[in-house]
Amino acid sequence: MDKIVVQGGKRLTGEVTVSGSKNAALPVLISSLLTPEPCRYQRVPNLADIHTILKLLDGLGVKIDKDEWSRNNGDLKLQTETVTKFEAPYDLVKTMRASFLVLGPLVARFGQARVSTPGGCAIGARPINLHLKGLEAMGATIEQSHGYVEAKATRLRGARVYLDLPSVGATENLIMAATLAEGTTLIENAAKEPEIEDLANALNEMGGKVRGAGTDIVQIDGVDALHGLSHQIIPDRIETGSFVIAGAITGGDVWIKGARPEHLDAFLIKLKEAGVLLKFDAGGIRVQRNGKIKSVDITTLPYPGFPTDLQAQMMVLMSVADGVSVMTETIFENRFMHALELDRMGAQIQLEGNRAVVRGARELSGAPVMATDLRASVSLIIAGLVANGTTEVSRVYHLDRGYEHIETKLSELGARIERIKG
Ligand code: UD1
Repeated sequence: MDKIVVQGGKRLTGEVTVSGSKNAALPVLISSLLTPEPCRYQRVPNLADIHTILKLLDGLGVKIDKDEWSRNNGDLKLQTETVTKFEAPYDLVKTMRASFLVLGPLVARFGQARVSTPGGCAIGARPINLHLKGLEAMGATIEQSHGYVEAKATRLRGARVYLDLPSVGATENLIMAATLAEGTTLIENAAKEPEIEDLANALNEMGGKVRGAGTDIVQIDGVDALHGLSHQIIPDRIETGSFVIAGAITGGDVWIKGARPEHLDAFLIKLKEAGVLLKFDAGGIRVQRNGKIKSVDITTLPYPGFPTDLQAQMMVLMSVADGVSVMTETIFENRFMHALELDRMGAQIQLEGNRAVVRGARELSGAPVMATDLRASVSLIIAGLVANGTTEVSRVYHLDRGYEHIETKLSELGARIERIKG
């Protein structure tokens, strides 16, 4: 298993370009199942999670042209004319939960789907009840047995669905299913993440009629068929936020090209409160820091609140800040595993249920640490950038799920970082 070794203490300076958003690309690629026509996508990041979804789509019979994409230029072409299977197997769904999103599109277009249930996860329970409740309201018959969900429908019909929680995945699954349903679907208390807007834009480019994505009521007027499209994936806001913290924590001066600050409002406001200097223009975000970092309190919330996917990275920043920060995690119940690893690097973090009390102003010291999930892994690398000595992060397969060329990007900014193949 590969390891990443970081020698801390280097100030990051220069330019870095944000990759396409993993969390936008996954549902958008899956939405190609809704049309037999060719779908072309640009800025698709070359990541392990994207390889997983392509493997799943390939298993269904989708034609995938990834010659260009393999050369890292982000262009991918998919055509689902040849789909002959309607099953997402356990090994792919357990590797990546977003695989479950094929359920809605498969049942909407082909009238049937058999998809493994995702099961547990390092960061907490990841139920699918809202996905199923919505599809049932749209007329699908759902049966669960042997670890699989089987859904069938002659044709889905529009329905009014209220989500008890604004689940990102459930909103995406149901929007996709509703595009080919008969009549109008209203999703209330929908998730409002930018990735949902990107999916809705792609579906509308395919001839779908999705309105209100990005607000808490999404209306979808079903159509009989969708057509092909050419669509560019939005830049990754979580990768952006991770670079903002990496720049700030090293007292650097980093220009993050292609970043969309409007997707990160709550996060950027907190960074400013913490004393980080930020400048925005159409080309991206510039991060600088001269003075000390001040402690700020954080509560993770559904968008537009502070993203849970940036909580681990923010915890590292708070570990070296001046003062005490209370961080409250409200989205996942077990998302503080990185705190225990950060403690090994000298951070002072006290966990109380879904709260972490972080006493800052500590100097971190390099140590061997272990990544426990995707965002935790990048937080340990960020800690390594500022720690004195050497930090060795193992289990970096988590990192490879969601950060494209991270060692190269950080090295180009001046970090001393290398991957040891193992
Ligand atoms: C997506 C993101 C993930 C991010 C998360 C929250 C992708 C591929 N992943 O995950 O990076 O951390 O949003 O912003 O986009 N829930 C239910 N029932 C359901 C579905 C969800 O109770 O049927 C609960 C979950 O347990 C969790 C909360 O809702 O507590 C949020 O989950 P959800 O928004 O669905 O996250 P994902 O779509 O899995």
